[in-house]
Amino acid sequence: MKKIGVGVIGMGFGSILLSLNTQKSYSQEVRGNSEPGDTGECLFEIRGIADAWKPVEALAELAEKFGVAHYSNDYKEIVTLPDIDMVAVYVPDALHHEISMAALNAGKHVLCTKPLTSSLDDAIEIVKKVESSGLKFLVGQTMRFEPQYASIKKLCDDGDLGNIVVASAHYVHDMRPVYLETPWRLTMPQDFIYGGLIHPVDVLRWFCGDVEEVHALGNKGLLTPGRKSDFDNYLVNLKFKSGIIGRAMACFDMVEPPLPMMEVDLMGTRGSATAEFTDFEPGVLRCKLDRLPARYPSAIPFPPQTSGDRGLGNTVMKYIRHFQDVLLGKCEPVPSAREGAKSIAVCDAAMRSMKSGKVEKVRDDF
Ligand SMILES: NC(=O)c1ccc[n+]([C@@H]2O[C@H](COP(=O)([O-])OP(=O)(O)OC[C@H]3O[C@@H](n4cnc5c(N)ncnc54)[C@H](O)[C@@H]3O)[C@@H](O)[C@H]2O)c1
Repeated sequence: MKKIGVGVIGMGFGSILLSLNTQKSYSQEVRGNSEPGDTGECLFEIRGIADAWKPVEALAELAEKFGVAHYSNDYKEIVTLPDIDMVAVYVPDALHHEISMAALNAGKHVLCTKPLTSSLDDAIEIVKKVESSGLKFLVGQTMRFEPQYASIKKLCDDGDLGNIVVASAHYVHDMRPVYLETPWRLTMPQDFIYGGLIHPVDVLRWFCGDVEEVHALGNKGLLTPGRKSDFDNYLVNLKFKSGIIGRAMACFDMVEPPLPMMEVDLMGTRGSATAEFTDFEPGVLRCKLDRLPARYPSAIPFPPQTSGDRGLGNTVMKYIRHFQDVLLGKCEPVPSAREGAKSIAVCDAAMRSMKSGKVEKVRDDF
C-alpha cells in the first residue's frame, strides 16, 4: 500500500516517531485484537525532521540512522515539502499553534502532541481551519490510549457503570527533574493549566461529556521560585452539562506524593471504577459492579506501555496507528481538534476562576 509521508517537528519526545522508519508493522501490543485481514502494516514513513535547537550535524546523524530524506533547523522547510502528507508537532507548548497552522496552511494533515494550544483563541483558530479545509487533525492526548483508561471507557460505553454521578481525576508530577532535561519549561511560557491539568480534564471530558462551569483554586509552589507562573498547583470543581459533578487536581510544584501519577475515579448507579497510571510502571483498573457478587473490587493489571527509554512509547504508537486508520478513511480522529479545544476551554475557564475567585462558565461558542 502507498506510504504516508511524515514530517516530525521537534526531536525530544517526538523522536519516538523515528522508529516508524525501522518497523514494517505495529507490534501486537499496539495493534491489540485487529480485525481479520488487517496486516497491521505501518504505512507511515518519516521523510523530514526539523528541530530548532539541536545542531544540524545531530539532525544529519539522526536522518542517516533512520533513513530520513530531509532535515533542517527550520520547520518551515519541512512542513512545505511536497512528499510530506502529515506533520507531527512535538515542540514546546507555546509553539503548537504556530507550527500546526503553518502545516494546515501548507495543506498537510496534523498530529499535535498535547496540549492542543496554550490559549483558547488559538485553539479555536485551529478548529476553524481544520473544519473548513477538510484536513485531519489528531491531538495526542496519551491518557486516552493507556489501556486501563481505554478499558474504563469501554465499561462506560457498555453501560456497566450505569449513569455516572461523580467523577474525579488527578495528575501529580514533581517537575524538578523534568526542568533539568527540558529547561524551556522554566524559561518559555508554559502554563501547566494547559500543559498539565489538560490530562485529567481531557479524560474526565471523555467519560462524562462537556463541562458547563468550573470553580478553581490555584497556588504557586515554593520549590521553584524562578518559574514564571501565577499558579503551579490546581484544584478544579467541575459541573458537567449532564449533571455529573467532578473534580480535577493537578500539582507540579511539591514533593511528589506517594500516589499514582494519574488516577481516575468514576462513581455510577450500577458500578464504580478507578484506574491508575504511573510512567514506566504497570497500571491497574479496579471496579465494583452491582451485578457481580464480589465483595471486594475486581482488579485488572496492565503492563507498562514502555518502549525504549520512553515511558509512553507504546501509547504514542497506539495513537499513531489510530491516525493511520483516520488517513485511510476508516474512522474520524479522536480526540479531534474540536475535542482538544473543548478541553482547552475547561482549562481557560479554570484560569479565569482562579483569578476571579468565582464560578466561571466554560466557553462553547465555537
Ligand atoms: N504525555 C505526553 O503526551 C507528553 C509527554 C512529554 C512531552 N509532551 C509534549 O511534547 C512537547 C515537547 O516536549 P519535550 O518533552 O519533547 O521537550 P524537548 O525539549 O525534549 O523537545 C522539544 C524540541 O523542540 C525543539 N524546538 C523548539 N523550538 C522549535 C522550533 N521553533 N522549531 C523546531 N523545533 C523546535 C527543541 O529543539 C527540542 O529538541 C511539549 O508540548 C510537551 O507538552 C507530551
